[in-house]
Amino acid sequence: MIEFQNVSKVYPNGTVGLKNINFTINKGEFIVIVGLSGAGKSTLLRSINRLHEITEGQIVINGRSITAATGVQLRNLRRDIGMIFQNFNLVKRSSVLRNVLSGRVGYHSTLRTLLGLFPKHDIHLALQALERVNIREKAYVRADQLSGGQQQRVSIARALAQEAKIILADEPVASLDPLTTRQVMDDLRRINQELGITTVVNLHFIDLAREYATRIIGLRAGQVVFDGPVSEATDEAFSEIYGRAIKRDELLGGQE
Ligand SMILES: Nc1ncnc2c1ncn2[C@@H]1O[C@H](COP(=O)(O)OP(=O)(O)OP(=O)(O)O)[C@@H](O)[C@H]1O
Ligand SMILES: [Mg+2]
Repeated sequence: MIEFQNVSKVYPNGTVGLKNINFTINKGEFIVIVGLSGAGKSTLLRSINRLHEITEGQIVINGRSITAATGVQLRNLRRDIGMIFQNFNLVKRSSVLRNVLSGRVGYHSTLRTLLGLFPKHDIHLALQALERVNIREKAYVRADQLSGGQQQRVSIARALAQEAKIILADEPVASLDPLTTRQVMDDLRRINQELGITTVVNLHFIDLAREYATRIIGLRAGQVVFDGPVSEATDEAFSEIYGRAIKRDELLGGQE
């Protein structure tokens, strides 16, 4: 579903973001990417939908190179990829429903979406998506009136309304308290299992990575230093990824 072929990225200032990355993510996997700050997790995730351009190699999505795609091809590939950010990326003054509907813009002309003219089918999809993350009753509330966890669920609903086949989440729970963190991670897992949406999440809590992932990819200085099932992601493996022993504040449990 997502194939990295000899992918490297050097930023214009010479910083190496990714170094010769090779792996294949299969449909329906729940991948967690771990690594120290600066290891390249965000760079890797953002290169998948070309928020960042890679400088070498190729990324293939469902048999099509997104690296080589332009115009309509690129737009269609991006439509299949939902993105979730630490800071939710919602339009704060708009309603929850309108935010979720923005997941549909890739399917319509710019004019139509500028005017906010979404067909009934889209509104139905958006409400259904809100239902799935248990905040249907918030549809007509302004986004900034929701709690952090609820706002993150709106952004998950937006990806669902988009009918994304892949969800990329960059530190989706970093701004949330431990309880809300679990609720949002549970939502992501439920969606992954019920809808088979391939999910790639950057996380910096090791225990959460072990709890939710089906497979863990460890990055260190832009390189893959671990790639395996949770059962192999032992404390020793994590020390290897981090280049040192695990600290207490790298465990969510250590914060409760
Ligand atoms: N726009 C940029 N220009 C130059 N260097 C960058 C840029 N963005 C990131 N980097 C560098 O690329 C490397 C990887 O950064 P990246 O943001 O991918 O790390 P990360 O693993 O997501 O870290 P964190 O856990 O802090 O979010 C780091 O050395 C970083 O300083
Ligand atoms: Mg990051």
